[in-house]
Amino acid sequence: MKHQYIPWHEGAVIYQIYPRSFYDAKGTGIGNLQGIIDKLDYLGGNQDSLGVNAIWISPIYTSPMADFGYDVADYTNIDPIFGNINDFKLLVREAHKRSIKVVLDFVPNHSSDEHPWFVQSQSSIDNPKRDWYVWRSPKHDGSVPNNWLSAFGGSAWQLSEKTQQYYLHSFLAKQPDLNWDNPAVREAMKTAMRFWLDLGVDGFRIDAADWLSKDLQFRDDPVSQQLSQEVGGSEQVAIKHVHSRGGPHLFDRLNEMTQVLKKYPDRFMIAEAHPETDNKIQGYLQYYKAVNSQLSAPLNFEGIYLPWKASAFRTFIDAFQAGMQPGYTPIYTMGNHDESRVASRIGRRAARTAAMMLLTLPGLPFIYYGDELGMTDVPISKEQLRDPFTKPGKGRDGQRTPMQWDTTAHAGFTEGTPWLPVASDYHLVNVSTQSQDPQSSFNLFKQLIHFRNGSSILKSGTYRSVDYGKDILGYERAQGTNKLLILLNFTSTEKQINLGRLQGQLQLSSYLDRENSVMSKRILLRPNEGLIIGVSDD
Ligand code: GLC
Repeated sequence: MKHQYIPWHEGAVIYQIYPRSFYDAKGTGIGNLQGIIDKLDYLGGNQDSLGVNAIWISPIYTSPMADFGYDVADYTNIDPIFGNINDFKLLVREAHKRSIKVVLDFVPNHSSDEHPWFVQSQSSIDNPKRDWYVWRSPKHDGSVPNNWLSAFGGSAWQLSEKTQQYYLHSFLAKQPDLNWDNPAVREAMKTAMRFWLDLGVDGFRIDAADWLSKDLQFRDDPVSQQLSQEVGGSEQVAIKHVHSRGGPHLFDRLNEMTQVLKKYPDRFMIAEAHPETDNKIQGYLQYYKAVNSQLSAPLNFEGIYLPWKASAFRTFIDAFQAGMQPGYTPIYTMGNHDESRVASRIGRRAARTAAMMLLTLPGLPFIYYGDELGMTDVPISKEQLRDPFTKPGKGRDGQRTPMQWDTTAHAGFTEGTPWLPVASDYHLVNVSTQSQDPQSSFNLFKQLIHFRNGSSILKSGTYRSVDYGKDILGYERAQGTNKLLILLNFTSTEKQINLGRLQGQLQLSSYLDRENSVMSKRILLRPNEGLIIGVSDD
């Protein structure tokens, strides 16, 4: 029989590593590439592993670390904090040995202000690199060229004393936006992509993708009066960011990147997408329609943004799935390095239900490191804050704290002093302890992932929602006559469900305690319980 080609991303489970916080193999207090290599067996390759199929590594390029790597000073080198190119090559080799794909975070919209390109660009108005960044003269009164805002607050324009022009920075002033309207910039970025693809990386997560094209006339973003009243005048929310991002060439730019991937077998890229539209679903679907969907897909963040209500999730997932065409890859996630952890947002018990949802929906699920243990945000004192983006008093450090490996000092993350504090509950919440506990969060994730890896229904079957009332998210995944019914109790009270003429066998409960029981007629879902039931209609 001819072997059917299945691209790696189809049905894969991807695990995000925030490299500073995963594992420090050198005693510096900061995680590194050798640390990731040392922990590959934890991630995949054998029956005891978590079983993920791919890792996405947040940026590891040379960087002054103003935004912890999202400010790149050399797109084709590794920051010494993390190691060197040889460590990276070893990481790719060792990951591939275990059938783990390697996805790099690629940061095309902006570099560091310490990148040699920007150093040259800012040196004079006629420097050949001037047009590699976005420079504008002040308005007649000396003020900023337009009302665009930095995602981190304040104007997106910074005056450069030397040439008395402003440069654009959609994030920190230390992250000047590259000028993607300049073909030389596009070529340079594609060359950087090829560098990593040649080293064997399997794909990219494209950072801040929406900013790759801006309004060609640099018009002000419109201010919505209504919104500004609703949010008490918060300018970030009151402004509709329709000119400062999501410009007319956005999809051309992403397609240009997919053209690079196309030259290599079996590669994939995932765009960080935040469509600025009232209809989020249409916004996400635009990406699928416009950008080669064989080679890319947008990450949707609704798992993080939606309230934890079955009805809210059902409305979103049903409409989103209805928009999926053959070849589209839906991507769901419950957490990342920018957002409060799922167990903190909805509680540890509901986070188990969320895990069952994430790992039984179609497409490519993303897991944020530590969420498999139910790690929560760690309170960070003012003195310990490291993230430059500190929203009133609170940055993103709380969700970036060291991975909790065991009960030894610093949760076994480092032999040095960890760069961020370790959670105080690490004696209970850690890999070593949870591996011994058959009903732990770790074991739930592991069982769900192993189940998914062995189930072509979950990897590539259809999705159909089934209504069991407002508090239950119910859906059926099917392939031919083989079906799985997933029932998720979003509440913390018991719920009775009538299966009618359906009956089946329980494959997995999120409590991990009643597998293989027969399910028919009236069944009881315990608080926050999720079930995967193999069903037949008879
Ligand atoms: C993305 C990243 C975030 C970073 C920003 C600027 O949103 O996820 O961590 O600060 O881009 O690169």
